[in-house]
Amino acid sequence: MTHSFKGRAALVTGAGRGIGRATAVGLAAGGAKVALLARSEDELAGTADLIKEQGGTAYVVPADLGDDGRLAEAIARVRDELGAVDILVNNAGVVWPLGETPAVDVGEWAAAMRINVLAPVTLAVAFVPGMLDRGWGRVVNVSTGAVARPGSMIGGNAYVTTKTALEAHTLNLALELDGTGVTVNVYRPGLVDTAMPGYIRAQDPGRIGAALHERFIRSHTEGRLITPEQSARTLLDRLARDNGTGQIWDFDA
Ligand SMILES: NC(=O)c1ccc[n+]([C@@H]2O[C@H](COP(=O)([O-])OP(=O)(O)OC[C@H]3O[C@@H](n4cnc5c(N)ncnc54)[C@H](OP(=O)(O)O)[C@@H]3O)[C@@H](O)[C@H]2O)c1
Repeated sequence: MTHSFKGRAALVTGAGRGIGRATAVGLAAGGAKVALLARSEDELAGTADLIKEQGGTAYVVPADLGDDGRLAEAIARVRDELGAVDILVNNAGVVWPLGETPAVDVGEWAAAMRINVLAPVTLAVAFVPGMLDRGWGRVVNVSTGAVARPGSMIGGNAYVTTKTALEAHTLNLALELDGTGVTVNVYRPGLVDTAMPGYIRAQDPGRIGAALHERFIRSHTEGRLITPEQSARTLLDRLARDNGTGQIWDFDA
């Protein structure tokens, strides 16, 4: 089923592949014009081509969310292309650094914090004021069920910590904006067959921890991963129908 996002302008981060790509395609199919942000320009072009083939409107905005200067340029570019952002989907994320915490590079940990937390905050700071002016806006921050089950990601301390911080930011901002017409929600996408779990499967179990590695190998071989399109459908369904704010939308719930 196609949802209606007619007349809306959306920004989706991490829109070159996986859940972000499926979300951007779904938003465009529903009539939104969509700005697509990630680092890999070829992947963004692939998403844009697909959207355009289906009669939609898409703009490619290559940028590294971990680079403040590039992010500022990307925000200006999104404003030029879309004029305003009504729907912000902070989907881009990284699962690294993995491994025992004392062995982890703190610089990488900080970089993950920039990408998984500070970039979504920066995009909210940039685009929520316009949403408030118009009295309507939607922010969805893509998290993980591992926040509720940290034991499922032992060896992923940076990932669980950054996503927990992202959820805290989301729920607190939702309360701050309650009653304004701008809603802010978390989406936990389930276990999805994308590059991210593939990256974990490809790691050395001796480095990231045998239990974590084995869990991701098993879920794959047992065929328990859902497709990005399945996961994105749930996100889009909630986005199209739900006026609630400060909620955790969980694919597995
Ligand atoms: N797959 C799962 O099972 C699962 C489960 C729970 C939560 N999630 C969450 O779902 C979201 C999407 O993940 P996915 O599974 O679709 O993974 P994915 O296929 O690896 O996609 C991640 C996207 O984020 C972009 N990205 C990563 N680092 C970036 C950076 N520094 N600047 C800009 N863009 C960046 C990537 O593009 P570039 O590399 O080209 O920049 C890519 O488009 C993530 O937040 C992830 O934590 C996924």
